[in-house]
Amino acid sequence: MKRNPIGIFDSGVGGTSIFKEVHTLLPYENCIYLADSKNAPYGNKSEAEILQLCIKNTEFLLSRDCKMIIVACNTATTNAISYLREHYNVPFIGIEPAIKPAALQTQTQAIGILATKGTLSSELFHNTTNLYASNIKVIEQIGEGIVPLIENGKLNSPEMELLLKTYLKPMLDQDIDHLVLGCTHYPYLIPVLEKMLPTKVKIIDSGLAVAKQTKAILLANSLLNPSVIPPELKLYSNGNVEVLRSLIGDGFTSSYLNF
Ligand code: DGL
Repeated sequence: MKRNPIGIFDSGVGGTSIFKEVHTLLPYENCIYLADSKNAPYGNKSEAEILQLCIKNTEFLLSRDCKMIIVACNTATTNAISYLREHYNVPFIGIEPAIKPAALQTQTQAIGILATKGTLSSELFHNTTNLYASNIKVIEQIGEGIVPLIENGKLNSPEMELLLKTYLKPMLDQDIDHLVLGCTHYPYLIPVLEKMLPTKVKIIDSGLAVAKQTKAILLANSLLNPSVIPPELKLYSNGNVEVLRSLIGDGFTSSYLNF
């Protein structure tokens, strides 16, 4: 069981930002990355639709003997992780917007959050915001259109810059000093965002925290792979494998899967 792979899924290529953090911290773990790009974006779908897609992804990864599953998608986590934890017998690691550290550190009492509609409308997000950020201003912005551009290889494009400028303006007008990235596709925007944001605005993303939590849960469940040989890394995608490869890098064997 310890040598079985960790399964990681996302609505597409965004979760590769999480995979990279996990692989850096746990370089001997075998991994399977599943990109459900055909169904991206998840962010505009209903909770019931998101849940069905998460079930399908989970069952695919379990059929490949994954010992643990990382839901490398804020939209999927905030809408489906409780169900997955209740119904499947492996540990699940999720990711949700890092509102808490931003709320604790803000000096201007204003933070921005960029995420999908599905994440911002979820109960889990509302509960977290009420718990940690009820006494500060939280400027929420749906990142409409960002995920499709990234899925289509247009990460660095004039269209992307225009969207980001539009989305950041109301946040900057309200003097935010933290920008929480609430979607795993968004860490790839950090270089562009850093050029657009004043230096006092700190960008917060949860990738490293997810990797640390993954390690802690593997240890707690005696599932850490004791091997020190290079791991087997597999990619499955039902979309554009080239875009996926350009973001995730080398070292993977890949397959196109029409599911
Ligand atoms: N990467 C995703 C997230 O973290 C999903 C975006 C989408 O498919 O809309 O929310």
